[in-house]
Amino acid sequence: MGRFDGKVAIVTGGAQGIGGATARRLAKDGALVLVVDINEASAAANVDSIKKAGGMAVAMKGDVSKEDVCKAMVARAVREGGRLDFLVQNAYGGGSAVSGSALDVSSQAWDDGMNLLVKSLFLGAKYAVPEMRKAGGGSIVNISSVHGILMAPKAMVYETGKIAVIGLTRQMAIDFGPDKIRVNAIAPGHIVTENMKKGWDAHGNAEGKRFFELQYPVRRTGVPDDIANSVAFLCSEEASFVTGVLLPVDGGLSIQLQENILMDVVPYVREHPNMKFPYG
Ligand SMILES: NC(=O)c1ccc[n+]([C@@H]2O[C@H](COP(=O)([O-])OP(=O)(O)OC[C@H]3O[C@@H](n4cnc5c(N)ncnc54)[C@H](O)[C@@H]3O)[C@@H](O)[C@H]2O)c1
Repeated sequence: MGRFDGKVAIVTGGAQGIGGATARRLAKDGALVLVVDINEASAAANVDSIKKAGGMAVAMKGDVSKEDVCKAMVARAVREGGRLDFLVQNAYGGGSAVSGSALDVSSQAWDDGMNLLVKSLFLGAKYAVPEMRKAGGGSIVNISSVHGILMAPKAMVYETGKIAVIGLTRQMAIDFGPDKIRVNAIAPGHIVTENMKKGWDAHGNAEGKRFFELQYPVRRTGVPDDIANSVAFLCSEEASFVTGVLLPVDGGLSIQLQENILMDVVPYVREHPNMKFPYG
């Protein structure tokens, strides 16, 4: 018996990366998972891997920044599984990844970014909550970032979107708590997804990767399962008294004073002048 037997989940951006691992994890625990993603082939491949492992999943192609897609994904989940218990709002890409300061970013890029980073989460909840009410409760997990806690330069859209996710999560936790619907957010640190690994392989090197790891109190960066496990916890009964929180899953990155991190890494930087990174 899995702890999510009989439950139905939606994972947006569930084809790969953090969403991919989350879809696999919720299915492993018994949930029927609707994988919603703009990348149809990757979504189908993840669903295949879930089924091969004995789980239940369905792929749906769609851009969750569009209201009709958010409406349709909830209807599809209910059609496939008869109810809706969990909504994991994780999709990321396109305009949400645009870089630049307020001087660089176009008005259109701002709208595109906010539509995926923030508006899609509002729309997802708008259609999911009525179905969760019918199911007697539910859990919404919104994926923010350590970039919602601390700001990085030249990333105005992403940083603004990720901090908005925290506010939206708290607000919805208050509105829907009386319906036994819990709403929480996760702030991942650097998670080496399939895409991130490609970036490290193409543009980084081992010295650069170690420099990242040294900035984490636990001396490693994350893997998608680190986040998937935390999503599963927040969806579970073990978290039944947890709502409105931002759970940093970042190996302690966001609790350490920056000046102390710098003192720790300066000797390493001097000894490894050939560090390379996927970005920055
Ligand atoms: N990887 C990290 O280091 C990291 C760190 C902090 C936060 N996050 C957050 O975690 C989440 C997942 O990131 P990831 O690194 O796994 O990303 P990823 O690029 O590996 O996967 C994102 C998935 O979302 C899908 N997608 C993109 N636009 C979509 C849309 N409009 N509608 C539906 N699906 C769409 C993509 O096709 C892809 O399958 C994001 O919210 C991201 O901001 C990631």
